[in-house]
Amino acid sequence: LLEQKNGIYHIAAQLGTTEIFKSVQTETYGYNGSFLGPVIRVNKGDTVTFKTSNELSEPTTFHWHGLEIPGEGDGGPHHLIQPGKSKDVIFTVNQEASTLWFHPHPEGATAEQVYKGLAGLIYVEDENSKSLALPNDYGVNDFPLVFQDRQFDDKKQLNYKAVLNEDGTIGDTLLVNGTLNPKLTVGKEKVRLRLLNGSNARNYTFQLNTGDSFQQIATDGGFLNEPIAISEITLTPGERAEVIVDFSKFNAENDISLVNEAGNILLPFKIGEHKTRETTKSLENLNDFAVTDEERNLPVSKRLELFGMGMHVTINDKQFDMNRIDFTQKQGETETWEIYNKPDAMGGMIHPFHIHGTQFKIVSIDGKEPSASLHGWKDTIAIEAGQTVKLAVKFNNKGIYMFHCHVLEHEENGMMGQVEVN
Ligand code: C2O
Ligand code: CU
Ligand code: CU
Repeated sequence: LLEQKNGIYHIAAQLGTTEIFKSVQTETYGYNGSFLGPVIRVNKGDTVTFKTSNELSEPTTFHWHGLEIPGEGDGGPHHLIQPGKSKDVIFTVNQEASTLWFHPHPEGATAEQVYKGLAGLIYVEDENSKSLALPNDYGVNDFPLVFQDRQFDDKKQLNYKAVLNEDGTIGDTLLVNGTLNPKLTVGKEKVRLRLLNGSNARNYTFQLNTGDSFQQIATDGGFLNEPIAISEITLTPGERAEVIVDFSKFNAENDISLVNEAGNILLPFKIGEHKTRETTKSLENLNDFAVTDEERNLPVSKRLELFGMGMHVTINDKQFDMNRIDFTQKQGETETWEIYNKPDAMGGMIHPFHIHGTQFKIVSIDGKEPSASLHGWKDTIAIEAGQTVKLAVKFNNKGIYMFHCHVLEHEENGMMGQVEVN
């Protein structure tokens, strides 16, 4: 956990080796270390400096996924940092409490660099998040959980090019926070899990092995209005959710785990001693998120059609071109983006659609209200084949921002465009 009173954060992309498997060194990338990165905690209203430096032997960028930041600091493909070079990103945190993340974004190398280990979390806190009776004791009852699948070769190395799948690289080995066979020790109390799907392509549906429900409290970009009871939640690449699991009803002898829809264990819990922490205050008013009538009635001004597979993925029949601006939008003005995932002869696949530099609202999915789980700020939305979603999109800053499919190989293959906000 990195929290700097003076607002200055040093973040270096580094090469290293990590002992993921016992007594074997795997070559990896990491931020401020050999694998993955720190959790950076910032407060709304603070002016923050990210002093980024590239200690890799190839160019990279530092992209802050979900952060509302002026375009020049966004770290998209235009912001390459050469090996040995640094860049300062200065901005004022101006969005509500949320769990965001950061990762590289160089054109043609994003998927591989993320795969090798470049990813970290950003926690935004505000007056609201600090005053709510939520579990917020970092590493005690408030845990970051980054889920990633990887494929190791017979030397236990991450040989991305050998396993690359143009429709999304998946692996047979699950890592949680970079750890093989993880186990999380929790108290007999309410515990907050901040889930990030940091995989290149795999989707996860999280459930408890007991079938018990848990509470979702936040989406990608902020709190829901009140906790909602759910028994499963699906996250596609890039998406986050915060959930609260009440372990006070379980005992140390109970085998409690997070499992996927097939019942495979994603993360087993070890339940520790009884805790007496008070977290019983009601959480009915976490937020006041709403899609307004005005937003609901806005005509569609941008239409996007997602199509294709493998090397042939497109948005509006086009592939990414650094030198082409696909759309423009005025700073501070809300527009309705309509996104259609056009099926192909094979049916098609889910594309997790992401927009940089903003948190948007989901107005409708196929003309209907989104589920309660999606009634909150989002920066990435899973769009199924045949679906049409309407989003209310507003940028609070100026600059050039990417929008793309967050299956990183699709993004790499050109399923990306640019919107210039001025
Ligand atoms: Cu998570 Cu374009 O990024
Ligand atoms: Cu992003
Ligand atoms: Cu896609």
